Amino acid sequence: MKPPRIVVMAGSRRAEALSRRVAFACVQALQAAGAEVEHVELADYPAPLYDGDLEVAQGLPDCIVRLQHILHASDGLLVVNPEYNGSVTPLLKNTLDWCSRPNPADRARSGGAVYAGRAAAVVGSSPGALGGMRVLFHVRDILGYLGMQVIPQQLAVAKAGDAVGEDGRLKDGAQQAMLEALAVALADCARRLRA
Ligand SMILES: Cc1cc2nc3c(=O)[nH]c(=O)nc-3n(C[C@H](O)[C@H](O)[C@H](O)COP(=O)(O)O)c2cc1C
Repeated sequence: MKPPRIVVMAGSRRAEALSRRVAFACVQALQAAGAEVEHVELADYPAPLYDGDLEVAQGLPDCIVRLQHILHASDGLLVVNPEYNGSVTPLLKNTLDWCSRPNPADRARSGGAVYAGRAAAVVGSSPGALGGMRVLFHVRDILGYLGMQVIPQQLAVAKAGDAVGEDGRLKDGAQQAMLEALAVALADCARRLRA
């Protein structure tokens, strides 16, 4: 059977983003769980702030159309979330919002169709002690509203600057085990939803 295809993205495009390091650990865990992984760097999809007038005048940005195609071709999404004032980053929300817009030239691979019925998982990442725990509830809601099936397993990676080892695994054994369980659950859910 074809492996489930999972998109991994972090909600930061900062060069030194801690969430990117955590995203690498997620990619590795998903691959070990038998998934095919597309690691999306949002720096490669530099969409302007969503503006309805801009959309009417220019349509969807090319980078958003590319990202819609990647999401549409996937069976699931794992988002690694930095926490901004207890919630999601504007970069992540802006990207999700743009991708939720229909593309009149390609309705089948745009708008709600890029999310609906797919599996999703949420991970938090923070230099602080709580690991971005608060953002997880917000991002669950957002992805659920988009029609994704968000699995119950989640993880908040605290002290994220020092959480990932040279081998790309979380240094804390218990957290690594939780990440591996999350990856297996997401891959399973994505496989079942695709079937
Ligand atoms: C506007 C803003 C709000 C923030 N709010 C929180 C917060 O609520 N909780 C938290 O743990 N860290 C917060 N931080 C610190 C971020 O966790 C930290 O900058 C982190 O490194 C950003 O993620 P990144 O390294 O992946 O870019 C905030 C940072 C910014 C810029």
